Amino acid sequence: MRTNVVFVKPELVRDNLIIIPIMEEDSVEKASYPKPLNKAIESKDFKGSLSQTLVFYPEHNYSAKRVLYIGLGKESELDKEKLRRAYSTVAKTARALKSSSFSVLLPIIKSIDSITVAKSVTEGILLGSYSFTKYKTDKKELPPELKGITLILSSQSHITEIKRIVEKTRIVCDNVQFVRDLVNENSKDKSALTMESMAISIARRHKLRLSVLTEKEMKRLGMNLILAVNSGAQKPPRLLILSYYGNPKSKDKYAVVGKGIIFDSGGLNLKPTGYLETMKSDMAGAATALGIVKTASELRLRTNIIAVMPLCENLVGPSSYKPGDVFTAFNKKTVEITNTDAEGRLILADALSYTVSKIKPRLVIDLATLTSACMVALGRFIAGMMSNNEEYSSKLLQSGKDTNEIVWELPLSDDFKDLSKSDIADMLNSSKGKFAGAIEGGMFLKNFVDKTPWIHLDIAGPSYLSEADFNYMPKGGTGFGLRLLLDFFERV
Ligand code: BES
Ligand code: ZN
Ligand code: ZN
Repeated sequence: MRTNVVFVKPELVRDNLIIIPIMEEDSVEKASYPKPLNKAIESKDFKGSLSQTLVFYPEHNYSAKRVLYIGLGKESELDKEKLRRAYSTVAKTARALKSSSFSVLLPIIKSIDSITVAKSVTEGILLGSYSFTKYKTDKKELPPELKGITLILSSQSHITEIKRIVEKTRIVCDNVQFVRDLVNENSKDKSALTMESMAISIARRHKLRLSVLTEKEMKRLGMNLILAVNSGAQKPPRLLILSYYGNPKSKDKYAVVGKGIIFDSGGLNLKPTGYLETMKSDMAGAATALGIVKTASELRLRTNIIAVMPLCENLVGPSSYKPGDVFTAFNKKTVEITNTDAEGRLILADALSYTVSKIKPRLVIDLATLTSACMVALGRFIAGMMSNNEEYSSKLLQSGKDTNEIVWELPLSDDFKDLSKSDIADMLNSSKGKFAGAIEGGMFLKNFVDKTPWIHLDIAGPSYLSEADFNYMPKGGTGFGLRLLLDFFERV
């Protein structure tokens, strides 16, 4: 993707397509509108409400071949998210018009500074332009991929800052697409080993440190929970640790631990039809953790960020792990398996306890498609947040509002502990209780972080949309969490 920022009169832009913003009830500007636009407004076909579009083919007024008017609604009601949404509609309309590049006149909005406007517009367009077409054979029938956009400023002011923010936004959005591609890939074509190759090439390209724990090393270290989950699979597991030191003088490190189940069949507690079909996405946490470190290094963030990715499959086979068995975790705590489908917390338990004892981060954040209960509680678009540290969790809440990757806190309470007591081991991996499944998942993980500040993000809902697009979130993998955590790491 190519982005360009210029200061030029929109009338003079020679492009296939130019995007002009129209605000509802804008009586000042109205006088200068071209005739076809005024006609459309008079006939009430178009009034500039949010995301409303109108295409016209100018003979005068503009040098561009086509003009797409994009409604932004009432100026007083506009915010960053409305801009993202309106401009994701622009991206989709441009695709329908088979435009692989276009020019965008940036709106001037009283209550939002021009740098933020440029950022939100770019996010809306780039995030909204994604589609996963790898397995479509008739490429001619597909709308073209977006190759470049030119942002047109109406004044020279802040042009350097705007260029900088647009370039930064491009890098972030390219990485969101990278995560979406990883999640959408066939589970048969991905594995702990393909993720390892990916991490190796990223580490080489960006000069990052990568440690790889193989099955043999996991055995030696006593990571028996990851090994148990992977025991029904043929492919070997991996634990990848990819480190970016953007602030080498500081000892502070932030760890992001991502659940990397390449496919979750449920194991012997096999998932039924209707629940299996989306389970190639059960590695979204690991994909996002990888994307975050890649982005941080491309942006040269001045922070130390370590991605920890436990990767394996939860399958059914002659040596699958079984309900009723007890396994000892990396931190020597024992777990009685009551449900092989509660596998995410098991691999995270080993990865988290390894992270807090070996990496000793200032804060560890885990990203996990952990429970369907979290989707029941918070729906498709909001992640569940559980934490032992209010200072960090309130900052993350704010990043959620700013990026519109919303998180909502669920309480952790020791009152839940009794439910997961085991008669033969230290704890059960899944209780007999029917309620608060998301919190029980969080409570389980809490056993493996000691006193380290920790935030658990249950992204089962927002990481993958199985029904339909939602604004700039595409159907399938969404890349949720990457913009959120990068915003957070710029804050802490
Ligand atoms: N990967 C699933 C959770 C999930 C479900 C993510 C739907 C995305 C969409 C997880 O491993 C799982 O199966 N969780 C169980 C936990 C239960 C057995 C305690 C669940 O949510 O049903
Ligand atoms: Zn599961
Ligand atoms: Zn799972």
